[in-house]
Amino acid sequence: MFHSRNAGAAQVQPTSPVPAHAIRFATPVVETPAVFLLTRWVYRAVRSVVLAPFRFPVAVSTLAGSVATVHYLGWVWLAVAVLLAGAGLGVWWWRWPVAFRSLVVLRAVAAWRWLWVYRRHWQPVLVVAGLAESYQERQYLPQIRKVTCTEWADRVRVRLVAGTAPADVENRVVELAHGFAAPSCRVTVAGPRDVVLEFPRRDLLAEPLAALSVHSPVDLCALPMGLREDGQPWRMRLHGTHVLTVGVTGAGKGSVIWSAIRALLPAIADGTAQVWAIDPKRMELSYGRALFARYADSAESAVGLLETAVNAMQERAARYAGRQRTHTATADDPFVVVILDEVAFLTAYHPDRDIRRRAENAIATLTSQGRSVGFGVLAALQDPRKEVMNLRNLFPDKVALRLDEASQVDMVLGEDARERGANAHLIAPDVPGVAFVRLEGSPAPVRVRAAYVTDDDIAAMVADYGARGLRSVPGAGVA
Ligand SMILES: Nc1ncnc2c1ncn2[C@@H]1O[C@H](COP(=O)(O)OP(=O)(O)OP(=O)(O)O)[C@@H](O)[C@H]1O
Ligand SMILES: [Mg+2]
Repeated sequence: MFHSRNAGAAQVQPTSPVPAHAIRFATPVVETPAVFLLTRWVYRAVRSVVLAPFRFPVAVSTLAGSVATVHYLGWVWLAVAVLLAGAGLGVWWWRWPVAFRSLVVLRAVAAWRWLWVYRRHWQPVLVVAGLAESYQERQYLPQIRKVTCTEWADRVRVRLVAGTAPADVENRVVELAHGFAAPSCRVTVAGPRDVVLEFPRRDLLAEPLAALSVHSPVDLCALPMGLREDGQPWRMRLHGTHVLTVGVTGAGKGSVIWSAIRALLPAIADGTAQVWAIDPKRMELSYGRALFARYADSAESAVGLLETAVNAMQERAARYAGRQRTHTATADDPFVVVILDEVAFLTAYHPDRDIRRRAENAIATLTSQGRSVGFGVLAALQDPRKEVMNLRNLFPDKVALRLDEASQVDMVLGEDARERGANAHLIAPDVPGVAFVRLEGSPAPVRVRAAYVTDDDIAAMVADYGARGLRSVPGAGVA
């Protein structure tokens, strides 16, 4: 992205009479006069001193106060002042620990991180990452404007070099994360020429997350699923979209499916949502069978369930035609989510060609037409290659759990996902449930971890919510 200032010097004129092999190029060396360098250093030094009270008001006033105390009152009074200040901070910490942490501790950490990590390594890391040139010109080096700290991460606000774009930085997040020894780096745009780089100081997703508590009313567009690496809750949209969850065996697809079902429970209970479950392995979903309006485990019944869903969807679309363009979940017209574990069993692995064809047709129809009439599909898959699942592009939202190969990341999350840091193939096997997702409105993938719904949790869910609100959906016949 950055080019040497002499890059244009070696152009050959096509009309030149001199043969190309005879041309010798010499890079012109232009020495900057020493007086200019000296003036610049002096200017920078004076500017740093003048700006210091504004940049570091606490540090400068503490220093000035200490010097004045020693000068006018002597060392003893400085020691007394230090003791009093220490006691004051101690009382503050004891009485108001939260305010003390955010106003004192995190600011001290930010100052330290700015000095020791970012300022110290800034230029080398940016040069190696390909975001700056190695010469010292400040105008070619993105500038750190501010470092702040939250409990879990550093936020570095950066002024970009003119002529570069946030996408240039987004494409280097892996290098930046390694350069500053962080588990990841996330870029957000913070102004016309500013971006904020977020570097987690510790991995919030390292520990498993217990099943989340169930909240009512249910927001079908933001179901609580787990935790994002920035400490915020991970919420997933199901209404108005379809979600494909991909991961190798043991990656935690079950925890994504069960977290979604768990978040839907109050809506299942009041009849505004229904889960239609397909469980070819008979391992994942059978345990919560009483929660589902429909359930299928054999290939034949699974295809029948999918075709029933298509009929019900088309009946609803016919009713809505010319009357309404969007669906609102009600007990009469509930939101129906078809959950398909190991979808490749039906679309690729089943020996009967007719079953494969019917399943593909039904899934394609549901995913291409179901969105606006309140039919969604949540499918799980181990192998995202086209020959196994050629319908993956019909799923607008994807969850990439641990994958086998680097090339699969872009297959699941979209072309530039790996460049933007979604290293799903590097997720360790000992953190099942960790995944990369793309959130609405942001092209940068985010690392998340699904909460783990244990067998005991499922048993409790069945006891509390099973067999409630399971009315039949118009057009679907008898359940
Ligand atoms: N979110 C999670 N947090 C902690 N542990 C988890 C999580 N998800 C799954 N696990 C653990 O990993 C194991 C495998 O998970 P799971 O059965 O969901 O994998 P899967 O992707 O569905 O695999 P398969 O394709 O073989 O069905 C679980 O038995 C559980 O011990
Ligand atoms: Mg599974």
